[in-house]
Amino acid sequence: MRAIRDAIATGVPADELARLPLPETMRAAIVRAEDQAMFEGLASADKDPRKSLRVEEVAVPELAPDEAYVAVMASAINFNTVWTSIFEPLPTFGFLKRLGRESRWGARHDLPYHVVGSDAAGVVVRVGDAVRHWRPGDRVVVHCNYVDDQDPGAHDDSMLAGNQRIWGFETNFGGLADLTVVKANQLMPKPAHLSWEEAACNALCNSTAYRMLVARNGAQMKQGDVVLVWGATGGLGGYACQYVLNGGGVPVGVVSSPTKAALLNELGVEAVIDRRAGGYRFWSDEHTQDESEWRRLGRDIRDLVGEDPHIVFEHPGRQTMGASVFVCARGGTIVTCAATSGYMIEYDNRHLWMKLKTIKSSHFANYREAWDANRLVSMGRIQPILSAVYPLEDVGEAAYQVHHNLHEGKIGVLCLAESEGLGIDDPALREKVGEDRITLFRRRHA
Ligand SMILES: NC(=O)c1ccc[n+]([C@@H]2O[C@H](COP(=O)([O-])OP(=O)(O)OC[C@H]3O[C@@H](n4cnc5c(N)ncnc54)[C@H](OP(=O)(O)O)[C@@H]3O)[C@@H](O)[C@H]2O)c1
Repeated sequence: MRAIRDAIATGVPADELARLPLPETMRAAIVRAEDQAMFEGLASADKDPRKSLRVEEVAVPELAPDEAYVAVMASAINFNTVWTSIFEPLPTFGFLKRLGRESRWGARHDLPYHVVGSDAAGVVVRVGDAVRHWRPGDRVVVHCNYVDDQDPGAHDDSMLAGNQRIWGFETNFGGLADLTVVKANQLMPKPAHLSWEEAACNALCNSTAYRMLVARNGAQMKQGDVVLVWGATGGLGGYACQYVLNGGGVPVGVVSSPTKAALLNELGVEAVIDRRAGGYRFWSDEHTQDESEWRRLGRDIRDLVGEDPHIVFEHPGRQTMGASVFVCARGGTIVTCAATSGYMIEYDNRHLWMKLKTIKSSHFANYREAWDANRLVSMGRIQPILSAVYPLEDVGEAAYQVHHNLHEGKIGVLCLAESEGLGIDDPALREKVGEDRITLFRRRHA
C-alpha cells in the first residue's frame, strides 16, 4: 500500500499506477462476528464503538468485472457505522449472509468480519473488464448506493431495486480502509478544489439531503418554502440547510446548544431554535405524548418566520415525529429518512388527514441524484461540513463522538492520506469559492 500511496502523492502517470502490484492484505476498520453479543444487556448509550471497531489487516477481495479497486485517501463516519458498531437494531452480518447467497461474487462478502464505512475519496487503481467509464488514476468519490444493474427494478429509480443495498453497511469492503472495492456505478469525480477529507465527507449525507428536499423523489422544495430542519448542524441537517438557502427557501434550524446556533447563523440560517434551551417535552412519559408541547414548538416557529413549515426534514424519529406531523403546514410534507431515537413512530393521524399533510419516505439517493448533488459540491455551491478529522487507527473514537452527538457536521477519517489538506487539484476554484466558506465547520469546531 505504501508504494501505491507514494505513487498517488507524487502523481505518477495512470499507466504506471495501474502496473503497481496490489497487496494481498489491507488495513481496514472492521467489526467481528464473534463480538456480536458483547453489548448484550447494555443500554444503547453504553454500547461503545471503541470496543467493537478494530483496525486490522484483512484479505483484499477478488475484483468482479463491474467493479473497481479504489485506494482510499480519506473516508468519513456515518451514523450507519455507529449502528454496525453497536450491533443495533440488528448485527449487520445477516445482510452479508443474504448478499452471500446471491451469486459467486456476492459470496465474497459473507465473512466473519465486516469492513465498514459508506463514504470515500481516493484514486482508482484497477478496474474490472466490464468497466467502461473509469480508469486507473481517476480521482473519485464514492456514493453508497449498491445496485445490481441486471435487476429490472433498478431501471427507473434505482433506490426501488429489490436488492438495493448500502455499501459498507449492507455490503462488506466499505470505505474505512486503505483499499475498497466498489461497483463502477458508485464512482463520481472528486471535487477538484477540496482536500481528500473534505471530498470524502459529502456523498452519503449530501445525496440523502438532496433527494429529500430537491429531487422529484423527495419533497420538491419550492422558492419561499419554510423548511423545519431537525439536527440542523448534524450530518444531514448541515447539507439540508444549504439546499434550503440555495433554493430560495426559509430554513428553521433546530439544534441543541448556543454554539451550534451560532454556527447555523454563520451558515446563513437566521431562524434557529435551541431545543435544549426550549426544554420541549414532546413525551410526558414513555408512552404518552403532550400535544401542548407540539403547540409550543409550532408557536415558536410562527414567532420566528410567521408561518408553519411547508416541509419538515425529519430523521430523529420517535422523539420528534408527533411534533413534526403537528407543526407541518396544511398540505405540507414531512419527509423522513431515519429514526435515530426509535423507529416505532406515533403521531396523531387526525392532524395528518384533516390538514391533508403527506409523510414522504426517502432513502439515500439514486446515481443520478448522487451525481447531481456531487456536481453542486464540485461547483462550490454546496460546502463540505467537515468539523473534525481522525486517523483510521482512531475510528472507534470518531464513531463514539457521533454516537454521543459530540460532533458537528461530519467527521473525516484519514486512510492513506498522511495528513490533512492534501489532494487539492484546483486551488483557483478553492480561492473563488472561499476558504472561509469551505472550512466553516472545521474552524468553528476547532
Ligand atoms: N436513509 C438514509 O439514506 C440516511 C442517510 C443518512 C443518515 N441517515 C440516518 O439519519 C439519522 C441522522 O443522520 P446524521 O448523519 O444527520 O446524524 P448526526 O450527524 O448525528 O446528526 C443528527 C442530529 O440530529 C439531532 N438529534 C439527535 N437526536 C435527536 C432527538 N432525539 N431529537 C431531536 N434532534 C435529535 C442532533 O442535533 P441537535 O442535538 O443539535 O439537535 C444530531 O446532531 C441517523 O439515524 C442516520 O442513520 C439515513
